[in-house]
Amino acid sequence: MASLATRGKWSSRLGFVLAAAGSAIGLGNIWRFPFTAGANGGGAFILLYLGFVALVGIPVLLAELSMGRNTERNAVGSFRALVPNSWWPMVGGLGVVTGVGILSFYSVIAGWTLYYAFEAASGRFVSGFGAEESGEVFAAMGSNGFLMVALTAIFLLLTGGVISRGVSGGIERAVKLLMPVFFAMLILLVIRSVTLPGAGEGLSFLFSFEPSKLSGAAVVSALGQALFSLSIGMGTMITYGSYLSKDENLPQAGVTVAFFDTGLALVAGLMIFPALFAMGGSPGGGPGLVFVVMPTIFGAMTAGGLVAFAFYALLAIAALTSTISLLEVPVSYLVDEKGWSRARATWLMVGGTFALAVPSALSNGAVPALSNLPGGGFLGLCNIIFGNYFLSVGAIFICLFVGWKWGVGKALEEMKRGSSGLPGGAVWGFMVRILCPLAVAITLIYAAITGNYL
Ligand code: TRP
Repeated sequence: MASLATRGKWSSRLGFVLAAAGSAIGLGNIWRFPFTAGANGGGAFILLYLGFVALVGIPVLLAELSMGRNTERNAVGSFRALVPNSWWPMVGGLGVVTGVGILSFYSVIAGWTLYYAFEAASGRFVSGFGAEESGEVFAAMGSNGFLMVALTAIFLLLTGGVISRGVSGGIERAVKLLMPVFFAMLILLVIRSVTLPGAGEGLSFLFSFEPSKLSGAAVVSALGQALFSLSIGMGTMITYGSYLSKDENLPQAGVTVAFFDTGLALVAGLMIFPALFAMGGSPGGGPGLVFVVMPTIFGAMTAGGLVAFAFYALLAIAALTSTISLLEVPVSYLVDEKGWSRARATWLMVGGTFALAVPSALSNGAVPALSNLPGGGFLGLCNIIFGNYFLSVGAIFICLFVGWKWGVGKALEEMKRGSSGLPGGAVWGFMVRILCPLAVAITLIYAAITGNYL
């Protein structure tokens, strides 16, 4: 086992908040959220999503952070330290598998952002770039198997490069550089978007409330989105919490991260929908929304090429600060529990993830057998299996563990270190013990029965 002294620590609370917010803010906010909200009616879906963030997301986030900081261990070791000789560490094991699974398909989409940033920089998305051409660019990219695999590999290598440098020297240094750039670009893009003539229609789509549009599928999507976006349900926040100093105010840091993440999803909506409606696009664009629809919008905009580059660079940065958090889960497990060196753990996991990522990379038109699978191809299937089912199951067991096994009282005690405690601790206890696991379980069963999970 790695000694506690050598396993790393955030050098400051800001380091933790930026790293955790960087993990949470990602393709989930900017790529997944807009098309999911678009497909489910906009404003009403967003309200549901906000409800799930408050009722399930924040309680689970605090549960994970408390486990991590209390034990100063990885996703598996944290369960083991709290309840030795039990099957509970398998919940952490599921988290490690989920981390590799999500990282595998996530890296493929992250690779697309690199390609699009490059295309934007080389002046592709300029005036006259229409819908048909945009669809062709996306399809041509997807069916180029070599390109897809290469882009995925580049992104995984970037991620490994950060993770191999450790917690404060790698993750924290990277996020302190990347997150400010991210926020600056985001502000500029939002200003550009909401000042376009006709942007008002997008704003009213985003903020209108039409309960008639709320279907069962919308409820399922809203919960899945809340878990995925906050990076909870697989031990990422156990791992990141384990590097948090005992003097820091854990509840405050956790809630700050949740606010950043949720705020960011809304701001991403502010960036995308006004531009979409101003340029006459439709919100039901599906997963291709930011790759097929957005380029045509940029094409019709003054200085569109520059804006396009900023947009895809921003997506790439958001993706990188998330992929590093995904890779850190298996790596910290191997370092803590198996005594591996960080370098060995990193590069072996990068290799293993790459092997699983190849079929996803080839499932967007390059290899028909991989493209014609339920869920929209191998990549879509991985998104559903790991990003929805495994994450939901993980969230249920984390709640049951903290609520009934480790104990609400012990978790609240951990939150009290370095703070005056969690206001409304009893309410939180009820949520973690009963409300959250029940809500997630009901949704999961409903989704499995209706086959409605995305
Ligand atoms: N939250 C990230 C996003 O929205 C993705 C992510 C990073 C994630 N780490 C995670 C999702 C852990 C689930 C679990 O893009």
